[in-house]
Amino acid sequence: MSVAEILDTMDYGPAPESDKDARAWIKQHHRAGLYIDGVWRQPQEDRWFATSNPATGEVLAEVAQGGQADIDAAVKAARRAQSGWARLSGHTRAKYLYAIARLIQRHSRLFAVVEALDNGKPIRETRDIDIPLVARHFYYNAGWAELMAAELPDRMAVGVCGQVIPWNFPLLMLAWKIAPAIALGNTVILKPAEFTPLSALLFAEICTMAGLPKGVVNIVTGDGATGEIIVKHPGIDKIAFTGSTEVGRKIREATAGSGKSLTLELGGKSPFIVFEDADLDSAVEGVVDAIWFNQGQVCCAGSRLLIQEGVHDAFVGKLRTRLDTLRVGSPLDKAIDLGAIVAPVQLERIRKLVKQGVDEGATLYQTRADLPATGCFFPPTLLTNVEPASTVARVEIFGPVAVAMSFRTPDEAVALANNTEYGLAASIWSESINLALDVAPKLKAGVVWVNSTNLFDAAAGFGGYKESGYGREGGREGALAYTKPKWMKGAKALAESLPPKPNLGLELVGGGIDRTAKLYIGGKQTRPDGGYSRPVASASGELVGEVGDGNRKDIRDAVEAARKIQPKWATTSEHNRAQILYYIAENLDARASEFADRLRAIRGVKKAKTRLEVDAAVARLFAWGAWADKYEGAVHKPPFRGLALAMNEPVGVVGIVCPEEPGLLAFVSLVGAAIATGNAVIAVPSMSQALLATDLYQVLDTSDVPGGVVNIVTGDKASLGIELAKHDAVDAIWYFGSQEGAAQIERASAGNLKQTWTETVARDWGDDAVSAGRELLQRATQVKNIWVPWGE
Ligand code: NAI
Repeated sequence: MSVAEILDTMDYGPAPESDKDARAWIKQHHRAGLYIDGVWRQPQEDRWFATSNPATGEVLAEVAQGGQADIDAAVKAARRAQSGWARLSGHTRAKYLYAIARLIQRHSRLFAVVEALDNGKPIRETRDIDIPLVARHFYYNAGWAELMAAELPDRMAVGVCGQVIPWNFPLLMLAWKIAPAIALGNTVILKPAEFTPLSALLFAEICTMAGLPKGVVNIVTGDGATGEIIVKHPGIDKIAFTGSTEVGRKIREATAGSGKSLTLELGGKSPFIVFEDADLDSAVEGVVDAIWFNQGQVCCAGSRLLIQEGVHDAFVGKLRTRLDTLRVGSPLDKAIDLGAIVAPVQLERIRKLVKQGVDEGATLYQTRADLPATGCFFPPTLLTNVEPASTVARVEIFGPVAVAMSFRTPDEAVALANNTEYGLAASIWSESINLALDVAPKLKAGVVWVNSTNLFDAAAGFGGYKESGYGREGGREGALAYTKPKWMKGAKALAESLPPKPNLGLELVGGGIDRTAKLYIGGKQTRPDGGYSRPVASASGELVGEVGDGNRKDIRDAVEAARKIQPKWATTSEHNRAQILYYIAENLDARASEFADRLRAIRGVKKAKTRLEVDAAVARLFAWGAWADKYEGAVHKPPFRGLALAMNEPVGVVGIVCPEEPGLLAFVSLVGAAIATGNAVIAVPSMSQALLATDLYQVLDTSDVPGGVVNIVTGDKASLGIELAKHDAVDAIWYFGSQEGAAQIERASAGNLKQTWTETVARDWGDDAVSAGRELLQRATQVKNIWVPWGE
């Protein structure tokens, strides 16, 4: 027998990791209870559920089902602890996080085995990926605690955070959530997923060992019902969720109007694009890491393979050969590639979807390797001949199933890649850096990996576009999500002074030609679809003019105009956008006296005072012009051979419902920030001061603003805001007004999970530090991290 033959016929011997210590720990923690206020407590309703090893079906332990009384107790403990925790020096908080990181490293093998037993993922992955990254998140965020005062001087902790996480990376998701939260002075109630609660309980012990003040971290186990109690709890200030888009939508609805801040990290159907000039062998290994890593139960899994036509067949051939070599087996075997699927229900879901794919015409290829006879195992699978419209090409399967399609040109690749409601991640394979970096910004995804996949680091933000959610975890942006501006402390509720009742019998003040302002859509003044006007009255009830009464159709037209121009506006150079903002400012300045007169007529105050507001509006536009070419991204140097380029990309089409006061300054502050960063907007101006916005039409007309970048629809703010919130082609909605109005907007936005920014407290629009800086720019942008490796 030759050496080659020996190697071919050689089989792997078993290489099991010992589970002795993990089992002893688990046994000791059978019915341990809930970790609240630094101690273990029995669930008040005395309800328990089993958590099992999916590789064998064996019950590992019984875990408490947290109920309302338990969550109440946890919230109380977290609230009690929060102000003291936030008041500690950043350095002191950093030392706790640092201690936690060290303890995790010290107990890393115990964590790795507990995680593999409870989740079914291979020990190789828990040991080499999950646990090291968990420690890294605590180290990295210890740094944010240390630097908070210096680097985020205008920000403070949000307060008490409710965190609900999934089962696919149990401890890693816990770290992504808890580390930044506590670093920045928040306290937390975290609920692990019902399939995988054990590593969170072990983490609770680490908190005790680290001497973390009681109440800072509370771990409450339970199922979706427990999650729901957390989400709805009035004592919680922020909800951070990772999981399915379906539950994310429910959470958006449940938190609407509660004033809770919300970050959602949801599902994905991420494209994996292979160009003809790619190093195909590397790309094959890329697919292994993209979709067969963690049994494909990865929200950012590269599950849609888009392969350029010329190499499609060759690539699929290589992939099938590689697939045959993958080993599926006991998660504790160090030489397996895929472990068990988390639970029978998930296995069933994968089976059903794969069957549906085949029924719809896909060709099935599965590994020929043996699977264990029992337990939740599914073979690594490749579906080819898949139509872009078929179920398996659209739905998140969340299993080891890749679906392959072909494309001809880079443009077609981009169109196919973006043809999904998701937008979490993407992977591009090409030896041409020019091509890869041309395609990367065109993909609607929060993370793009060039010639790589599934790379994560605490310093690089992670999160989605579109229905993959909003907010980022990791990086500066992830830290910011656990803070709020200091000016909000003690801010008064926004008193919306409703415009005086329309009085159609009134004569126009000052007589003159009756000019009813129209709407401003696509760069043109258009009559409102409904053919109605609304009177605008002065503070004392006199009629000062009329504006168009926009309706749903007008909103649709405005969205269409914005949608059409936005990609072009986003790629207009920053220099040009800055020039246009300066130009608007200049033209407004030239007519400052006219605007001051208008303001005086509406408000009935002295002209000198109103002139100040106009001057402030001019200065604000200049400020946004200044920012347009300075709000830059960052270059991260994560611990791999390459860079991650954090780009601030515009959110897209933004609906803006302006506050009543100050009509002009708030309008230009919001619209200016949005367009400076490359968004197109549909603005619904203040109702009582709508004439100020309509007076701006001519300013915009003469300032080279491309038609459709700014659309203005006057009318009833509540109903127009809801139309914007419901519209699927609107990417974000900003609303300034009452709590009730905010609730309606947030509820209506759940449809396509658009980003919402609702503010129901009075902001100082005149203060540059508050309203002319990074806070608004952050709202107007989302970070995309493009990972670019180097070396051969
Ligand atoms: P899920 O979204 O139901 O569960 C995630 C977490 O949310 C768990 O802790 C669960 O207890 C909790 N939860 C469930 N309903 C809730 C509610 N109404 N309010 C508050 N919390 C609630 O995910 P599930 O059922 O475990 O998996 C279903 C599908 O979701 C998977 O097949 C997969 O497609 C997707 N999924 C996506 C994940 C991602 O990271 N993108 C993670 C897990 C699942």
